[in-house]
Amino acid sequence: MTNKRAGWASNIGFILAAAGSAIGLGNIWKFPGKVGEYGGGTFVLVYLCMVVCIGFSCLLAEITLGRYAQKNTVGAFRLIHKRWAFAGKLGVLSAFIILSYYSVVGGWVLKYIFTYLTGADFGGDTTAYFTGFIASAVQPIVWHCIFMALTVCIVLRGVSAGLEKMSKLLMPVLFLLLIAITIRAVTLSGAQEGLAFLFTVDVSRINADLIITALGQAFFSLSIGLGIMITYGSYVSAQDSLPKSVSSILLLDTFIALLSGVAIVCAVFATDKSLIGSGGGGFAFISLPNVFAQMPAGNFFGGLFFLLLFFAALTSSMSLLEGLVAFVSEEYGLSRTKATLLLAGSMAVLGCGYSLSQGAVALTLPWFDIANGLQFLPMANVMELATDNLIMPLGALFTCIFIGWVWKPDHAIAEIRRGGSSKFAFAPVWAFLIRYVCPLAIASILFAGFVMGKALS
Ligand code: TRP
Repeated sequence: MTNKRAGWASNIGFILAAAGSAIGLGNIWKFPGKVGEYGGGTFVLVYLCMVVCIGFSCLLAEITLGRYAQKNTVGAFRLIHKRWAFAGKLGVLSAFIILSYYSVVGGWVLKYIFTYLTGADFGGDTTAYFTGFIASAVQPIVWHCIFMALTVCIVLRGVSAGLEKMSKLLMPVLFLLLIAITIRAVTLSGAQEGLAFLFTVDVSRINADLIITALGQAFFSLSIGLGIMITYGSYVSAQDSLPKSVSSILLLDTFIALLSGVAIVCAVFATDKSLIGSGGGGFAFISLPNVFAQMPAGNFFGGLFFLLLFFAALTSSMSLLEGLVAFVSEEYGLSRTKATLLLAGSMAVLGCGYSLSQGAVALTLPWFDIANGLQFLPMANVMELATDNLIMPLGALFTCIFIGWVWKPDHAIAEIRRGGSSKFAFAPVWAFLIRYVCPLAIASILFAGFVMGKALS
């Protein structure tokens, strides 16, 4: 272990890296699907409220704790109260499981880039193509290992030379790609209908299901609840203003989600409207290739879209790996290289289980909720349910309780104000949100998962 802790070389580097972590498959693939499923503008409006009230407070809380502690997630909790290290460990556990399967999905994205490069031949049936591919035993695992290896290469280069440099390079490219795709989509004939759908709010459609889905999406999209932002916060310099940085991260993440919403919803309305409610896992891989096939220069834009998805996934996966590496190398005194290889190797193996259970092998695990009772589900589904419905919200809940009631908002506010220019006039509002509103909101996600059996991803 070195004595001098690694850090971001610049504030903009930090903002782009944190935005890179937040902007991922969640924004570009899940968000537009949910907008479609939950009726367009209504969902967008509720989502925006959740991001501003709850997302902002939790993100600021995590980053502040990290900068104060100058340690990995578990170390940060332990520094303030020995018995709370478990809360950090929950985050580490969910980051470990999430990256195992995030990398498998990243591998699917790579495969699709390859398919577009070699002529976009989906054999005439994108459903059969996708289900056939993910159910095969070897190919998806090879792509998964390639994706994991790429993540490893970045993390091995370190915080500033690896993660920060990559984010500075990939985030602007990602942005330009998305702009190009959006312009293509909104200029298709029939796209106006999509825009109308996105911006029409119908308050009578707001119900508990929609609110909880919007909240779950906000958490996932902002990378909250895994302690990753605690680790990223620990690399931030004392001069930076935290509320300003958090606002920029939030704005970037939301802007990219909205832009992909516009692009995808318009493209779907202009080509095949019936696909609009078909959210879920297959949406990007089954519905969208059909959408691209029906538009002028579709193969080109299809290829660009999967390239965009790949960059988004890569900047998120490297943040997950970095959080884990910081934990293992600092807590167990392993070198960064050893920790990286050990972690990536074990996640590659766990990811194989996720991949194989998509159809190649009947790998199942038990899962329980009140609505459905005890079930044996494919390992892949249980990994997603366990993180999205249980471990991630629990981690987020404990983080809020910890900061609001154990560390206390006053200490956090002092840390926030330490940053150069920050007056942080919202301090009392933030303290109230983090103590009362956020824990209640997160508890409702846990409740929805366990009692209503709702899958949140
Ligand atoms: N925010 C990422 C996305 O939108 C996914 C994600 C969820 C994540 N939790 C995370 C990424 C924690 C990094 C760290 O796809």
